[in-house]
Amino acid sequence: MNKKTGFLIAIIMFLLSVNIFAQEIKSIKLPLPDTRGGKPLMQALKERKSSREFSNKLLSPQVISDLLWAAAGVNRVESKGRTAPSAMNVQEIDIYVATHSGLYLYDPFKNSLELIVAEDIREVTGTQSFVKEAPINLIFVADFLRTEELEGNKESIAACDTGFISQNVYLYCASSGLSTVVRGWFDKKELSRAMKLKPGQKIILTQTVGYPK
Ligand SMILES: Cc1cc2nc3c(=O)[nH]c(=O)nc-3n(C[C@H](O)[C@H](O)[C@H](O)COP(=O)(O)O)c2cc1C
Repeated sequence: MNKKTGFLIAIIMFLLSVNIFAQEIKSIKLPLPDTRGGKPLMQALKERKSSREFSNKLLSPQVISDLLWAAAGVNRVESKGRTAPSAMNVQEIDIYVATHSGLYLYDPFKNSLELIVAEDIREVTGTQSFVKEAPINLIFVADFLRTEELEGNKESIAACDTGFISQNVYLYCASSGLSTVVRGWFDKKELSRAMKLKPGQKIILTQTVGYPK
């Protein structure tokens, strides 16, 4: 190996180590979801509603973990079962979380948040003014590369699968004293660009979550 090749290899090794380090700090491990407590189901159903006034108070990591687990977390580890059903269990809906510190992708199997964009994109998640005040906007994204085995209208199926997740969020919020509203009113193109979505990924709905004002 000549001097030049050795130098190049050293640079490549350095860049690789920087990248690996960067990947490590880009993943936030969430606390284990607390599956006890909350209001009983019938009471949560009684209190479920859409709210459009949010405090800017942040949600704790525990509340974020509980919220995402309720939305579509893993509730049967052996079979990789989730709290929300999906057609043929394809689990094609991903939950992105837009916060003041960046856009994250919820990984239900690692119970972690993976940083996607290190910018506050909350404002782009909707056209209503509360979206930039609330601490969290969830974005439900279908990955149609995962739905090849499905027959029928894949868009309708993705809409149904998203509906279950959204209702889980509504019920968790009602049960925990949080405010929420599901939203279909947003600029799909602008939001997809801000989220750096790949071909095959399509935003179905968004949902704002926070404490009442
Ligand atoms: C598919 C869908 C899209 C919606 N989009 C919006 C929206 O963009 N903005 C909004 O403020 N509410 C939105 N909503 C909330 C509805 O307006 C709300 O559910 C309805 O008025 C009934 O009120 P409730 O949820 O309190 O029962 C949407 C609801 C659904 C199911």
